[in-house]
Amino acid sequence: MGSMNGKVVLITGGASGIGAEVARRLHAKGANQVLTDLDGPALAGLAAQLGGNRVLTVLADVRDAAAMAAAAATPGPLSNSTSVQECAAAFVSGIEARKRRVYCPRRVGLFRGLRPVVSMPVAERDLRRAAPELMEGLDAEAAAMGRNLSARTEALEK
Ligand SMILES: NC(=O)c1ccc[n+]([C@@H]2O[C@H](COP(=O)([O-])OP(=O)(O)OC[C@H]3O[C@@H](n4cnc5c(N)ncnc54)[C@H](O)[C@@H]3O)[C@@H](O)[C@H]2O)c1
Repeated sequence: MGSMNGKVVLITGGASGIGAEVARRLHAKGANQVLTDLDGPALAGLAAQLGGNRVLTVLADVRDAAAMAAAAATPGPLSNSTSVQECAAAFVSGIEARKRRVYCPRRVGLFRGLRPVVSMPVAERDLRRAAPELMEGLDAEAAAMGRNLSARTEALEK
């Protein structure tokens, strides 16, 4: 196994994309996992792909606090979950230790340098004018990649 032996991880939105890929990688390192998502078939597919008895899936909406609490209380790998206080402390120390405030690809970071220019009143005025068109373009790009998260979530909720 590996460096995550005996450790327990809960992933929300774990059925696809980043959540699923993190789940695959953690599984390979030996972690026990609870994967939650709105998409039951995708969750089941991933659990079957991972196999073994180290993955528990829970159909739950991340916006539903009671469902999340129930997922965390599920008998199984999470029954030894840490307290909210310990979790928050771990997040805070992780965030403190980061060199950059926001994790993003390096190329995206380059645009940070443009922020003072973009937030100048004159630039903001132009940006506000262009925003509706820009947003439509971004939506179209995301949809063309099949990654229209809001449409997908809406469909799952029906
Ligand atoms: N992929 C990227 O490049 C990228 C970049 C920056 C931010 N993000 C953000 O990271 C998150 C994950 O991105 P992704 O690319 O893995 O998306 P994805 O669509 O592949 O995965 C999101 C997962 O969350 C689930 N989900 C959606 N709403 C839910 C809800 N209310 N409760 C439980 N599960 C829910 C979906 O069913 C899906 O399995 C998104 O919020 C996205 O906007 C992604």
